[in-house]
Amino acid sequence: MSTPAKRIEELRDQLREHNHRYYTLAQPTISDREYDALMDELEDLEAAHPELRSPDSPSARVGGEPIEGFDTVPHAVPMISLANSYNLDDVRAYDQRTRKRLAGQNHHYIVEPKIDGVAVSLRYENGALVRALSRGDGRSGDDITANVRTIGTVPLRLRAKNPPEALEVRGEVFMTREGFMRLNDSRQAAGQQVFANPRNAAAGSLKLLDSRVVATRPLDAVWYGVGELRGIAFDTHEAMLEALRTFGFRTPEKIWICDNIEEVETALREIHEGKDAYPFEMDGAVIKVNERGLYEELGSTAKSPRWALAYKYEPEQVETLLKAITIQVGRTGVLTPVAELEPVLVSGSTVSRATLHNWDEMQRKDIRAGDTVVIEKAGEIIPAVVRVVLEKRPPDAKALPPPTECPACGGPVSQREGEVAWRCENPACPAKSLSWLKHFVSRRAMDIDHIGEELIKALLKEQLISHPADLYTLHEKKDQLLDMERMAEKSVDNLLQAIEDSKNAELWRIIHALGIPNVGERTAQTLEAHFASIRELAETDEETLTAIEDIGPIVAKSILDFFALGENQFFIERLQNAGVNLERKSAPASEELETDLTGKTVVLTGSLTQMTRDEAKDLLRKLGAKVTGSVSGKTDLLIAGEEAGSKLDKARKLGGEIWTEADLVNAIPANAPPAIQSAVQSELDLLS
Ligand code: IVH
Repeated sequence: MSTPAKRIEELRDQLREHNHRYYTLAQPTISDREYDALMDELEDLEAAHPELRSPDSPSARVGGEPIEGFDTVPHAVPMISLANSYNLDDVRAYDQRTRKRLAGQNHHYIVEPKIDGVAVSLRYENGALVRALSRGDGRSGDDITANVRTIGTVPLRLRAKNPPEALEVRGEVFMTREGFMRLNDSRQAAGQQVFANPRNAAAGSLKLLDSRVVATRPLDAVWYGVGELRGIAFDTHEAMLEALRTFGFRTPEKIWICDNIEEVETALREIHEGKDAYPFEMDGAVIKVNERGLYEELGSTAKSPRWALAYKYEPEQVETLLKAITIQVGRTGVLTPVAELEPVLVSGSTVSRATLHNWDEMQRKDIRAGDTVVIEKAGEIIPAVVRVVLEKRPPDAKALPPPTECPACGGPVSQREGEVAWRCENPACPAKSLSWLKHFVSRRAMDIDHIGEELIKALLKEQLISHPADLYTLHEKKDQLLDMERMAEKSVDNLLQAIEDSKNAELWRIIHALGIPNVGERTAQTLEAHFASIRELAETDEETLTAIEDIGPIVAKSILDFFALGENQFFIERLQNAGVNLERKSAPASEELETDLTGKTVVLTGSLTQMTRDEAKDLLRKLGAKVTGSVSGKTDLLIAGEEAGSKLDKARKLGGEIWTEADLVNAIPANAPPAIQSAVQSELDLLS
């Protein structure tokens, strides 16, 4: 009779085999129901015999309790990166250098797709997965074992009778395009922030502290390399991939074995042409010398091995249908033509709208509604329509002539001297007012709660407001507010109170809210540091403005033009009469309080749990730091919340200081003014 120990082993073997067939080969031989029955039996037996439990049991895939944070563990062999090339000339030059170094020794190249995911290293000892590490800084990485174990295609045990003493396998964890779309759809439906692209989604998932959540994320991986090897060796890259496959790993589906550089070029072309057929995002191809015996001779530079070269593709261009051209009315009345596109995935994110900038640009490119257009998105830049595919133009494609009237209010339009933009000249245009009001009340401007787009539209329709300054006289129209649909006493009171509270906002908020062209949140904060009041700012001159770091001639001109206009002077007068704060409330934080953060350039990334992103920004500013959006050589410090993505990787690469959210909270000095202490404390109270 079979003992429990024996039966458990049998079940584990069977389940491993079925996992491999299902996940890696995509050829299951039993039904889900039969599989579940085997798994149930195994789980029952393991529950009855806890002494027989094992971390490499197929039942042990889905993670346990959340962990505190990741341990950092050194890599046995560093995870170095690859040298990049961007065109065939670079590749040919690489081939020449390689041949010279090898002085006539025969060699081949392998070309593989370059997967745009997250590099991970797996360590197997005597066949069992003991650790999974992220790349980290290349020398040591985060221990993400619990998370990586949840990926179905990652073997928890090698499929081998006599597994090697140690085997490190390296590859890329990714999210398929399809999995990414599904994940984002459900996040959107749940009101959660969506991921920008599959790479970020994969990186964010691997950084989650709760592996039970990771298990729900559609992650997969492809393995293309090795690190430390003990008790095993491979002559060629090809043989290594073959061995990984028999051990149970998912390896590149197709590789190109090339005798010479001409064949490499063909391979690069074929991979590029076929890139849409891959279920994952690809950002190029990797060319590797096949003969591993030559690696030592080829050696490496400080950053990358000489036996391999990455070949990166130009930013992805995608064709899609331009369904219609709509016109957006900005807060200054500028009319912007916008392409409404059939949604497509470009460089990892879904694009359904793209700005066409202005009529000159649109005419130059001859863009018409009904056209098939090529769109491009390089990095994190806004999508752009590159060109029209003329061969696909239907006979009824319609160009959008320059406007003769405002599409929103029918008011007169004009082109100001020296400008390409058309503007609606109707000062009472509701679309213009809507854009301006939306901006004025927004979180990063006056931060007025209880008023959103729909309510603004309703207030405009009822003619209760037409201009941001009208908000401050709205309390005089309480009866009319109460007459409006869905406006009960309570909501009217809340609204009026929120407007009242905004009168006390900090100076930079009102500077931002004014809607001065080219003055965003950061510039507004810079201006607050240099001008004690709106009055001072209104009376300044070009020289004073351009002497300020970060303010150039264009921004300076915008500011001067804004305050020169009579209607804007009247706007400020009305704000003042209403009692809106137009002065700096305290000395700049940096003068007031020396903290660890004073004068530092800080970037925030990932999601925070103890405060919102905006609150963190404000707190940092109060502590004397300058908050910027992207990581660069100037970044002193990165504060990484949960699911931090590429910014964290970049900061690590650049070697900057990295803090957690808790570090930020701890950085608030005991002698900080009560306002800072209490701002943070009340946030913490709310959460507890
Ligand atoms: S080989 C010594 N092969 O791209 C480095 N890397 O830009 C061995 N990558 O660090 C890496 N697909 O994270 C290799 N087929 C592939 C790859 C690949 C994606 C990543 C990997 C690497 C980075 C370099």
